[in-house]
Amino acid sequence: MKKSVLILGLVAFFFTSCGETKKEEVKKDVEAVEEAPASEKVKTSDDYLALGKELFTTKTCVTCHQPDVKVIGPSIKDINKIYTEKGGNIVAFLKGESPAIVDTDPGQVAIMKANIDGFVKDLTAEELAALSVYMSSVK
Ligand code: HEC
Repeated sequence: MKKSVLILGLVAFFFTSCGETKKEEVKKDVEAVEEAPASEKVKTSDDYLALGKELFTTKTCVTCHQPDVKVIGPSIKDINKIYTEKGGNIVAFLKGESPAIVDTDPGQVAIMKANIDGFVKDLTAEELAALSVYMSSVK
C-alpha cells in the first residue's frame, strides 16, 4: 500500500515537472515571437494579413480607399503602384514621418493627415505594419 502511494506520488511529480518545462518552453516561444521585429513577423504570417484587413475596415480606411477606384482617397492599387515605384514606406507615412507621395495636393493631404493626427498615431507598431502588409497585398 505504502509503496503504491509512493509510486503514485512519483508519477504525479514526474507529470507536474514535465508540465512545468512545457509551459516554460511555450512561454519562451511566445516571448521570442513578441520580441521579433514586426516587419519580420508580418511577412511570414497570414494572421497579420488578416489583422490588417480587419483594421482597414474597422479603422474606416475603406471608406476613403477602395482597391480599384478612387473614392475620396486614391485607390489602394494606385497607392501601391507609387509606393513600389518610389520605394516608399507606408508605415513611415502613417506615423507622420514621411510626406505624402501619392497625392500631394494640400487639400487631399489635409484629409488624410486628419486621420493620422486623429487616431492613426495611436495604433501600435504591429497594427501599422499589418495595415501596410494588407495594403501591399492588394494586387
Ligand atoms: C476621410 C478619408 C480618408 C480616410 C478615412 C483614410 N484616408 Fe488615406 N488618404 C485619403 C486621401 C484624401 C489621401 C490622398 C492624400 C495623400 O496622398 O496624402 C490619402 C492617402 C493615403 C495614403 C498615401 C499617402 C501618400 O504617400 O500620398 C495611404 C498609405 C493611406 N491614405 C492610408 C490610409 C489608411 C491605412 C487609412 C486607415 C487607417 C486611411 N488612409 C484612411 C483619405 C483618407
